[in-house]
Amino acid sequence: MMRDVRLMLIGFGNVGRAFASLLMQKEETLRKDYGIRAKVTGIITARHGACINPDGIQLTEALRLVENKQSLASLGTQTFEGNTLDFIKSCPADVLVETTPVNPQAGTPAIDHLHAGFEHGLHGITANKGPVVYAYQKLNQLAQSKGLKFRFESAVMDGAPIFSLHRKTLAGAEIEGFVGILNSCTNLLIEAMEVGTSLEDAILHAQQIGIAESDPSNDVDGWDAAIKVAALSTVLMNHPITPLEVDRTGIRGITSEMIAEAKAKGKRWKLVCRGGWQENNFIAQVKPEMVSADSPLYSVAGTSSFVSFALDVLPGLGILESDPSPKTTAFGVLADLIDIYQGVE
Ligand SMILES: NC(=O)c1ccc[n+]([C@@H]2O[C@H](COP(=O)([O-])OP(=O)(O)OC[C@H]3O[C@@H](n4cnc5c(N)ncnc54)[C@H](OP(=O)(O)O)[C@@H]3O)[C@@H](O)[C@H]2O)c1
Repeated sequence: MMRDVRLMLIGFGNVGRAFASLLMQKEETLRKDYGIRAKVTGIITARHGACINPDGIQLTEALRLVENKQSLASLGTQTFEGNTLDFIKSCPADVLVETTPVNPQAGTPAIDHLHAGFEHGLHGITANKGPVVYAYQKLNQLAQSKGLKFRFESAVMDGAPIFSLHRKTLAGAEIEGFVGILNSCTNLLIEAMEVGTSLEDAILHAQQIGIAESDPSNDVDGWDAAIKVAALSTVLMNHPITPLEVDRTGIRGITSEMIAEAKAKGKRWKLVCRGGWQENNFIAQVKPEMVSADSPLYSVAGTSSFVSFALDVLPGLGILESDPSPKTTAFGVLADLIDIYQGVE
């Protein structure tokens, strides 16, 4: 059976554009292997306008316009004026794909976008950690009450299968804890310090190559890692916590002396994320740790991420994601789209 699926893209930045490219690249796979004939009927951005075309927007042209810092408005076949919530109500679609920037303090406005989408009868996919950390249960319940699906594979470790693995393949198993390296920026900064660069110079370089933001505290002070710990605890361990409840220490306290001491012992510093039950206490932590060469964390290099789960039926199961990019993240969104329609008659 062939199904027409109309997509509304909220956000057309690195991830939104990579997803549009991947949709074109995988058009035949979607059609032949999954019976999905997808078209994008609307795109809205913050500074590059919006467009609605119920017959399907020309994605190559949309990419060209935004990459040339032009507005998308000329691609629309019906006029639209209003904000993103108005857009969600106006654009004919079946799935809302949310890729706006994360708000680490509250998860809005992405939460409001997804909420409006579910109210309006659309499935929801996001790559944004905010809604997962601050509104997972509320959004999931709303979606389920309307027979809709809420998916967010790319919110942690880009397109690596974490949430779908838990939901499908690990059905019946119980996750008791996890440990990992979930922030690639700090991993790179520590590596730069290992070859003699100061933290300040390493941050400057990371900003120049687009790895660190202009305000690096989100990474350096462990907030991004804490958000990911909160997301994994909330969804995989059914233990909802906010990033503020994560015991968090960033990497500012790591000195060149500490790096040298670790090296002399054949060890390395890593910003380690942990979550899990110890006795009757739930431990959620982000902290620099000196790891030895026999730890799987030791060789996690550059922008790669790693997580290892302890399960009641599998003592250790690790996932390493190497060299992520917006395309990797876009794959998580595509996998969510396929998942929404797989098995649906
Ligand atoms: N980059 C990655 O590889 C990666 C990996 C994992 C997860 N993520 C998550 O994916 C999301 C997107 O990341 P990104 O790198 O694509 O960000 P980005 O390049 O900054 O793009 C964000 C997009 O959202 C638009 N936008 C902002 N506020 C909006 C609003 N209120 N309504 C509609 N559109 C709005 C922006 O419009 P303008 O273009 O006009 O500014 C832009 O198109 C983030 O939540 C991020 O944490 C990203």
